[in-house]
Amino acid sequence: MTALSTSSRRIVIFDTTLRDGEQSPGASMNLQEKLEIAQALAHLGVDVIEAGFPIASPGDFEAVRQISQTIRGPVICGLARCRDADIDRAWEALRYAERPRIHVFLATSAIHREYKLKMSKEDIVRQAVASVKRAVGYCPDVEFSPEDAARTEVDFLCEVVEAAIAAGATTVNIPDTVGYATPAHMGNLIRVLRERVPNIDRAVISVHCHNDLGLAVANSLAAVENGAGQVECTINGIGERAGNCSLEEIVMALRVRHDYYHASTGVVTQRIVPTSRLVAGITGLSVQRNKAIVGQNAFAHEAGIHQDGILKQPLTYEIMRPEDVGLTKSDLVLGKHSGRAALADRAKALGYNLTSEQLNQVFEQFKLLADKKKEIYDADIAILIDQQLHVVSELFHLDRYELSLATGKTPEVKLTLRRGEEKLTTQVAAGDGPIDAIFLAIEQLTGISTTCNDFRVHSVTVGKDALGEVVVQLEHRGQLYRGRGVSTDSVEAAAKAFLSAINRIAAAKGLS
Ligand code: KIV
Ligand code: ZN
Repeated sequence: MTALSTSSRRIVIFDTTLRDGEQSPGASMNLQEKLEIAQALAHLGVDVIEAGFPIASPGDFEAVRQISQTIRGPVICGLARCRDADIDRAWEALRYAERPRIHVFLATSAIHREYKLKMSKEDIVRQAVASVKRAVGYCPDVEFSPEDAARTEVDFLCEVVEAAIAAGATTVNIPDTVGYATPAHMGNLIRVLRERVPNIDRAVISVHCHNDLGLAVANSLAAVENGAGQVECTINGIGERAGNCSLEEIVMALRVRHDYYHASTGVVTQRIVPTSRLVAGITGLSVQRNKAIVGQNAFAHEAGIHQDGILKQPLTYEIMRPEDVGLTKSDLVLGKHSGRAALADRAKALGYNLTSEQLNQVFEQFKLLADKKKEIYDADIAILIDQQLHVVSELFHLDRYELSLATGKTPEVKLTLRRGEEKLTTQVAAGDGPIDAIFLAIEQLTGISTTCNDFRVHSVTVGKDALGEVVVQLEHRGQLYRGRGVSTDSVEAAAKAFLSAINRIAAAKGLS
């Protein structure tokens, strides 16, 4: 086993927001959104982008293909099971990439061998070797993952890893697929692999930790401490079930505690908050207020003693500076009289690079908002830009509605939608409440019926005139669709959110 260097090691940041992250329920993204996130990840400075699982669907294939064709800088990776058809399809999508990587995986734990795969240990090794060799035939950069490695017998894990490296794998990834490991367990596993696999120095050891016990970042750090050279992670920690190791947390932990880990990454940390905001906006998975690094409260100091300390010397209560993660410290409030230049300046400070056409569109919305709301904060501006940049091609547009409400009376609505040049108006629709009535009216007009699984409202900034943001998750024929709407009027925000989810359903059905 080669000793770990005490000078700084460079850890490879492998981002899987577009693959494992997209496996979060309700987080599926369209092609345009995936391209935008891939571009943001390249600007963020990640080393590898796992762009998708090409055989999984035509949409996944197209996303990996277009990301391979357009994104330059990071390695572009596509996932494949250890099957010939998967590997061939992955390569078809990846062949345009400047630096392609094929990632093949096969479960190795006894539970998966016995119940899922019904394969013997010998079969597993044979199939893993054959698949790695097939992938190496296409490109030299091949990653192999023994799925559920953390619950695999250690001797067998060493055997599979050795065989995969001998077959040409250049990265061996150790997934804790079900989030079962603890830091001591994961650290020990990586150390044992380094001690017992004779050819381990020919590959980079990677870790891929899930967060079922809330330990994904701690487990990844323990792996780095014991010699892992790559960490797989996602923006905001999104991913299957409780999610994956959060990129912002692992990167900042390595940076803040460089004294301990002697490891660094290529991530431009000032891009973290804008990228987090982009992913939250696109996926509809909002970040909890107290989330480390990117939560709204991450740098908020409430206690008087803390505030006093911060004013005297920020290091008293801050282990990193807000600006290090891209939080703009700004007291600048815009309003009715602010011009395009001031808006452009704030947009830039918030990490958005708008074209002049986009700036014009955002400025129009800004002026409308400034008529309703006296003070416009950074969070308002960010949400206006997100809304403007991520318009799903919309079949139905909200034209107007009239609500009649009175205590003790059933709320009624008359609502008009536009579909191209055509105007569609409901007869009066009644519901349990005003929002229910609006949702029913939209369903009547579009002919799309849904079940609403999630409905959340929150205020974007402070004050009675604050923008309200509504996020809904609708179920239609077993699939989940999300929608987001923003307005100073929360009923209108709900109507917009519902309609944006309906438009996603219409797009998925190919309605035009
Ligand atoms: O969690 C997991 O095991 C995975 C593999 C495909 C790497 O996502
Ligand atoms: Zn995973």
